[in-house]
Amino acid sequence: MPSVFIKTYGCQMNERDSEAVAAQLVAKGYALAPSESVADVILLNTCSVRDNAEQSAINKMENLAGQTRRRRPEVVLGFLGCMAQSRGRELIDRLPDVDLVLGTQKFHRAAEYLDELLAGTRDKIVDVAEEAGSEATIKEHLLHGRNANGANGANGGGHRPPLQVTAFVSIMQGCNQYCTFCIVPYTRGAERSRTIPDIVAECRELVARGVREITLLGQIVTSYGRRNFSSLAPNGGEGRGEGADAQQRVPTGKSAFVQLLEAVHDIEGLERIRFTSPHPKGYGDDLVEAYTRLPKLVESAHLPVQSGSDRILKLMHRGYTRERFTGIIGKLRRAQPGIGLTTDIIVGFPGETEADFEDTLSLAREVEFDNSYVFKYSPRRDTPAAAMPGQLPEEIIEERHARLLELINAIALRKYAAYAGRRVQILVEGPSRKNPARLEGRTRSNKIVVFDGGARHIGQVMDVRIERASNFTLYGDPAILNDEG
Ligand code: 5AD
Repeated sequence: MPSVFIKTYGCQMNERDSEAVAAQLVAKGYALAPSESVADVILLNTCSVRDNAEQSAINKMENLAGQTRRRRPEVVLGFLGCMAQSRGRELIDRLPDVDLVLGTQKFHRAAEYLDELLAGTRDKIVDVAEEAGSEATIKEHLLHGRNANGANGANGGGHRPPLQVTAFVSIMQGCNQYCTFCIVPYTRGAERSRTIPDIVAECRELVARGVREITLLGQIVTSYGRRNFSSLAPNGGEGRGEGADAQQRVPTGKSAFVQLLEAVHDIEGLERIRFTSPHPKGYGDDLVEAYTRLPKLVESAHLPVQSGSDRILKLMHRGYTRERFTGIIGKLRRAQPGIGLTTDIIVGFPGETEADFEDTLSLAREVEFDNSYVFKYSPRRDTPAAAMPGQLPEEIIEERHARLLELINAIALRKYAAYAGRRVQILVEGPSRKNPARLEGRTRSNKIVVFDGGARHIGQVMDVRIERASNFTLYGDPAILNDEG
């Protein structure tokens, strides 16, 4: 029985893809290797969104080729996912030890190709073609729970708690927004959505297997169903409704995404729903309103803003203004005052002036995100921004990155500290990543809470009293509540 080790770079979609590939391989008789040093097959599931993500995967593969391959010449090495898609055969030209390059529409072919490579019937395989219907091929789950190190990845090794409490479900692939900085439309292709019944069936099965929280994933979930099921789009949308079935043609004026949320919400036994990532441009009032109406939709939103300057937002082709963005934030906070809000911000986009950057600082002060992911602009090949005038020197980007991070962290720490003394509801996920002797759960607003508990708490929704906050973690005490009766 050959064994496989998958290392994942990048976003939650990539984690989900790795899990689906691992599940597929296990179903075909492969074992999951506890480490790469003993694996017969080593796969790197890659990220292309910034240059350093690509470089880490390439460096890793160079290491594997130099060391692992030398010791064990029969080991099979492969690149999967976004960088495999955008670079294709070029990866084998550069790293001749690589046997497999599998693009983002071909994850479901992994077992077949690995069988051929292991049997020696084929030598090198590159498959980065488009495939109709590939968005519906990522549905298998491992559900092995967290390993002892707290990783939730494909190689769960170690002691496995019987229950996996949270799961990711991919609802769509691709993006048609073409933000000028972003490589995703080229690595993930055009928007393609799975049908509501298909997604609901997957969610139901997960719940039947013990999952209590589902995160719906897509590169731009606010565009869910827009192309396939355009009869549902509030403003008509484009396309001709191809692929829609009767259930999806309900003429409610609600977006297809909100209809999906409602359908998933109806699943009995499911406790919580999250989703990521929405785009401000498609963030309609029906989605804001869903937060007031659907109790399982927890009070948390990750809404990437990218910049606080209207001039830069326009150059980025984001399709909204700062005012429209802060308007959505205002509505969300009116709908759910305790909502946890996070964002993504890019500093150093081409042509960004000090005044533009100060607009981003002022937006961060105005909105007070619970946390923000701050990225240094990284030119991506074939994207319009890479050819724009005004590319900024590294020092300016570094300096702005440091200034924004300082502000973001100060605000975030204040927000976390404000939880001290409060009673919050958590869903207990498993052993704490920081200290496996303790447990960790998440608040509805998506903050990690570490506390003392036992295996019987895993999967439970419970109230804890927050004692203190540090380093983006809350520390809680359920015992205090028990004492109070
Ligand atoms: N450079 C820097 N950050 C980028 N992101 C996407 N493309 C780039 C790029 N070329 C960031 C955006 C996005 C997040 C996932 O990655 O902030 O929301």
